[in-house]
Amino acid sequence: MADLGCGPGGVTARLASLGVTAFGVDASPAMIELARREYPDLRFDEGSMFALDIADGALGGVLAWYSIIHTPPEDLPAIFAECARVLAPGGHLLLGFFTTDGDSPHPVEPFDHKVSLAYRLSIDHVASLAAGAGLAETARLRREPGENERFRQGRLLARKPAAP
Ligand SMILES: C[S@@+](CC[C@H](N)C(=O)[O-])C[C@H]1O[C@@H](n2cnc3c(N)ncnc32)[C@H](O)[C@@H]1O
Repeated sequence: MADLGCGPGGVTARLASLGVTAFGVDASPAMIELARREYPDLRFDEGSMFALDIADGALGGVLAWYSIIHTPPEDLPAIFAECARVLAPGGHLLLGFFTTDGDSPHPVEPFDHKVSLAYRLSIDHVASLAAGAGLAETARLRREPGENERFRQGRLLARKPAAP
């Protein structure tokens, strides 16, 4: 399983601790360096979600945990297509993101984030991006903001159809 936009690697490490064969990918060399230093036994690759150095159909799972939040909305279809490309038939894509659900009629809402401009996405919009890449929704979740969180949080699980 690939943890795309793994940042400092904590989620990759959590997956590994649960017995998942997981590796991290991040566009930021600084994040990859941090992750490798913190988790020297795990694999972390520098790379872009727009052009993964991963073969077609190689992965049973892809995680993008808050890693599409800074992507300009018009660029998201390319990332979903890349996720779909690397998934094996029957493989799953799991996304975590800030969601607009419940308080905005808009599918995408920009907001000021401490790192750089970020976007809240409606779960319907994320599901339609997945569908556009040929991935079928299997589950979604919206949760209320926790203490110190500004926004509701969304999760979407989508699956690449199994081979006929
Ligand atoms: C908010 S952090 C989340 C980190 C990690 N997933 C977590 O939950 O702790 C977003 C990460 O996504 C990475 N990222 C953003 N766009 C990316 C892209 N196109 N390709 C690879 N990594 C990307 C950033 O460098 C950053 O480390």
